[in-house]
Amino acid sequence: MKKSLIAGLACLSLSVTAAAPYAVFAHPIQNMATENGQSTLRPLTPDVAVIAHRGASAYGPEHTLAAYKQAMTMKADYVEFDLQMTKDGQLIAMHDETLSRTTNAKEIYPDRAPWRVKDFTLEEISRLDAGSWFNKAYPDKAKTEYVGQHVPTLEEAIEFVKQHGNGKVGLYMETKAPNVYPGMEEKVIEILKKTNVLNDEKLFLESFSEESLRKLRTLAPNVKLIQLYTGSMLAGKDVYQEMKRISEYAAGVGPSKELVVPKLMEAAHQNKLLVHPWTVNAQEDMVSLLSLGVDGEFTNNPDQLDDLLKKPFISHGVASGDITDSSAILWARTNGDAGVQFEISTDSNFKSKSIVKTSHADEEHDYTVNVEVNGLKPDTTYYYRAHAVSSKYTVNGSFKTAPEENSLKPMTMVWGGDTGGQGEIPPYKSFKAMSALNPDFFLFSGDTIYADNKTPAVPNPPSETVEDFWAKYKENRTDAGLRSLLQKTGTFAIWDDHEVINDFSGPSQPLTPTGLRAFKNYWPISEERSQSDKLYHKYSWGNTMDMIILNNRGYRSPNTQADGPDKTMLGEEQLKWLEQQLLESDAKVKLIATSVPISVPTGKTNSRDGWANADQINPNDPTGYETEFKKISDFIIERGIKNVFFVTTDVHFAEVIKYDANKDGKTDYNELISGPIGAVKINPGTLDPTFGPEKLYAEGNFFNFGVFKVDPANKQATVEIQDENGKTHFTHTFQLED
Ligand code: G3P
Ligand code: CA
Repeated sequence: MKKSLIAGLACLSLSVTAAAPYAVFAHPIQNMATENGQSTLRPLTPDVAVIAHRGASAYGPEHTLAAYKQAMTMKADYVEFDLQMTKDGQLIAMHDETLSRTTNAKEIYPDRAPWRVKDFTLEEISRLDAGSWFNKAYPDKAKTEYVGQHVPTLEEAIEFVKQHGNGKVGLYMETKAPNVYPGMEEKVIEILKKTNVLNDEKLFLESFSEESLRKLRTLAPNVKLIQLYTGSMLAGKDVYQEMKRISEYAAGVGPSKELVVPKLMEAAHQNKLLVHPWTVNAQEDMVSLLSLGVDGEFTNNPDQLDDLLKKPFISHGVASGDITDSSAILWARTNGDAGVQFEISTDSNFKSKSIVKTSHADEEHDYTVNVEVNGLKPDTTYYYRAHAVSSKYTVNGSFKTAPEENSLKPMTMVWGGDTGGQGEIPPYKSFKAMSALNPDFFLFSGDTIYADNKTPAVPNPPSETVEDFWAKYKENRTDAGLRSLLQKTGTFAIWDDHEVINDFSGPSQPLTPTGLRAFKNYWPISEERSQSDKLYHKYSWGNTMDMIILNNRGYRSPNTQADGPDKTMLGEEQLKWLEQQLLESDAKVKLIATSVPISVPTGKTNSRDGWANADQINPNDPTGYETEFKKISDFIIERGIKNVFFVTTDVHFAEVIKYDANKDGKTDYNELISGPIGAVKINPGTLDPTFGPEKLYAEGNFFNFGVFKVDPANKQATVEIQDENGKTHFTHTFQLED
């Protein structure tokens, strides 16, 4: 049954959304319409196989004709047989080397322990009941027809599938314990010839034993072979070398499902190896593996996978973002054109009245949707659930609204960035540690993807087509930790350079419009923040904190331009807006969310990318953006703006700095830096002294994120730097000024 999964990837809408004002000067690259992009995180063919593991073994006794029948009724593409060999050399379908778990051998032959298959003839085994154990083990699924089910021979099982499969159901069989049964491979091929299925397209032979597969290859060179893997078999091996090596004899791999990560997908698919993980029974796991681009799944619940594959479903989780005290943006992605419905309620069981929002996932947006929910109550946890209208598969989420205006409630946020660069790809660990803190919200401080770095989603960077950029976001959403954090925590995402290309300046970078389009597609960004592509905006958490989100890329002058009055990072309009926000804010804390640091040198000599010109390293470096930052620094000092914290990532180490820019012995503002979450780890260096920085803490060479808590009652703000395991490496409490 054809189940095309890659529909979601085939879109090629070349129109760029409303030209970003700062992109006026850019000549959008014509998307080089490569058919479906270059990602290796998608099936090798449109067909994703439903492989009924031991038959529909969640519903009937494994390896019985009854369980095989159910598998075919449930539209499985393949029925899987594990093979054992009897004393008289007959092949039977059975998982274990012994008869005791799945038959009544102990009753019928009480004195023949340990009831090894190889100690019994086929005739003796044919007297066994291979179904009643299931009724005892699963009374809620018991059926009278299971009583007396017999152990099928391979030949019988093949004929049964041929008879009931309408020529559509394929065969998938495993040589189990081939070292116990000499000649097993020859017997398998003999029966495949006898039953006339040896040349069937839909036939796979699988084994954990490479030796057995190589023997089968010698006996039947054209049969597709699947090399199975447990964790211990792959441990310590270079997966790229291993996949290259086995592609010599195998058509695919069958890894235990926890082994399936982007690296394995890339290693397998670049060697044209199918990936069929086992055993995948929960729809959430099915979806997670499908988002990695697997080519099929072994499952005890073929109906659950068929149900998913036949219609578009929520494929990459949900998220909420740009939360206020009365509104939120909800985000979801499907894997095909479909209506999407969100239900929002304060009741996690959705029994009480819910708000319902719908939207349509279309190709133009890579099937992502953003809906705005208004009229929410402040300081309230909201639960939501989303599903593609045509699909039953539902994903749940939650978020907290900001406290009401003028309230002074304690607040805990987490921030982090730099995810997916310099060879680091999912799985990441930090997101799980963040979730464990149950924060009020998450600030994703840029480099949410590395569009210009080589990863399985874009093996030949930089990303240039919108499909490539989209593939990068999907790649990071394959991370279960990130998906889970986004599902239950409101998120404010900002971009930095790698959402487009290293150290880019918006107006002069041709890739800006395409990168921006994909960034807005993949994050829950409010209309008011994304209109005319501003991306800068202020969000309040009551009167505890105002978070002033900057856009450090969209309006900036080229990095190479010599610093001076006409060089800008923010653009005149945004700079004015920032000063106005600082002036008007009466919040206890003013947090400025910026994607670049103040005094840590970044970028290159004569093309500095942060504010600093790093003249402590190269006294003659004319670049950097210090002229503009001095305006901001002076404004804060002259206007007496209190409790200002610049929060960023970008530099790939953690550092906490206080600034005395006017050298009066009093701190004028602070800077909190964390990261990376998943990119190259760097060690801290010297700071540009221009604005009077003093290091309170600096540590590198580890994955980390930041926690920022404001306790208005005690006039305190506390920063913590935690590593990817949630261990605190540094904590410091700032006394807040009135
Ligand atoms: O054959 C794939 C998978 O079934 C391997 O594990 O033990 O269930 O045969 P097992
Ligand atoms: Ca098996």
